[in-house]
Amino acid sequence: MSATHIHPSTTLPRHSKEVLLKQKGCVLWLCGLSGSGKSTIANALEHVLHDKGRFVIRLDGDNLRTGLNSNLGFSDEDRLENIRRTAELAKVLADNGVIVLCSLITPRGHLRDLARGILGDDFAEIYVKADYATCEARDPKGLYAKAAAGEVKQFTGKDSSFEEPQEPDLILDTEKLSVQDSTFEVLEFLRNKGIAS
Ligand code: ADX
Repeated sequence: MSATHIHPSTTLPRHSKEVLLKQKGCVLWLCGLSGSGKSTIANALEHVLHDKGRFVIRLDGDNLRTGLNSNLGFSDEDRLENIRRTAELAKVLADNGVIVLCSLITPRGHLRDLARGILGDDFAEIYVKADYATCEARDPKGLYAKAAAGEVKQFTGKDSSFEEPQEPDLILDTEKLSVQDSTFEVLEFLRNKGIAS
């Protein structure tokens, strides 16, 4: 449904918020298979950035699916709405100077394009890379075992596809990098982009 007779009001300029927070708003969008390390890395990053005096908000797929996105499942249509809502929320936050860490599987190119389209220059795509077999061996939530037993439908990488990102801004290969290494890589990325030192 398109918005008709809607008149968005102006808010305090983004720059004012960024001056207050001494940082630039941005969205680091961590995508990758379940168990690839997205939430673990986002969690570590949040702590390190917080300790450096940065204001960070995490938007995590599992967490959002208990609230804002609790009416969504894992069909193609629901995943798209899951990403759309999350990207719109991230946009509001980034527009207010917040460093936003999104960790959602975001399994397909068109979903990442949707988030990029909503967020524009604020969006950085970070591919948290680990293959299905590795994630299955880690299986932190026991979901891979359940999927193998046919107890989880539309499971990403099994009966719902995962398309590898073609040109992400950063790749974190968690088969090789420790959580600390991955965190360091992202901090370097933020520094190089002039977002936060
Ligand atoms: S996304 O595909 O729409 O981006 P999202 O990141 O929000 O997914 O949610 C993924 C999380 O939901 C997984 O980490 C896992 O804990 C849980 N989950 C439950 N069912 C599935 C499923 N069928 N496929 C993938 N993840 C699932």
